[in-house]
Amino acid sequence: MYYIKFLVIYVTMEKALTSFLLTSLLLHYVMASSAMTKTNITTDQLALSSLKSQIASDPFHFLDESWSFATSICHWVGVTCGSRHQRVNSLNLSNMALTGKIPRDLGNLTFLVSLDLGSNNFHGNLPQEMAHLRQLKFLDLSFNSFRGRFLLGLGFYTNFKF
Ligand SMILES: *[C@@H]1O[C@H](CO)[C@@H](O)[C@H](O)[C@H]1NC(C)=O
Ligand SMILES: *[C@@H]1O[C@H](CO)[C@@H](O)[C@H](O)[C@H]1NC(C)=O
Ligand SMILES: *[C@@H]1O[C@H](CO)[C@@H](O)[C@H](O)[C@H]1NC(C)=O
Repeated sequence: MYYIKFLVIYVTMEKALTSFLLTSLLLHYVMASSAMTKTNITTDQLALSSLKSQIASDPFHFLDESWSFATSICHWVGVTCGSRHQRVNSLNLSNMALTGKIPRDLGNLTFLVSLDLGSNNFHGNLPQEMAHLRQLKFLDLSFNSFRGRFLLGLGFYTNFKF
């Protein structure tokens, strides 16, 4: 009798554990997919347009024609999208003689793995929002005129130049 009771309790507990695991798995999945539906390529498009609006001078017209809503941002000069999720994973505007500031919205490019803004004339503070770029592995900001110490708070980069 005791043995059977124990068995019943055991089976009940196991069921509870299984359903607990299933619930957390489901919750995890729902949370992950809602995070994914919250942002999409439109988010990246808005972030890049915001960057473009902060560029005061583009003497060689690198962005003037290419960065237009007539084409997908994945075809914009310096932009590369991931083949799987079609989100911006690399931005390379190095050596384009651009003058401007980095908008906070750049931190919305959450799929960004590589950011190369080297050898331009970007200035001002780097926005704190860049700390949202959790996927970032490569960052080159060298030969610009940035101010501020925000980067000390970050530790994700495996490769960076300032
Ligand atoms: C991106 O999401 C917004 C709002 O969630 C939606 O209005 C828009 O149509 C979506 N864009 C694409 C390209 O899926
Ligand atoms: C970037 O994300 C912030 C916070 O989620 C939001 O308020 C802002 O509108 C976004 N910017 C763009 C250009 O989508
Ligand atoms: C960015 O583009 C320049 C010029 O094409 C190239 O030399 C540099 O290696 C690129 N940066 C990255 C991170 O790929």
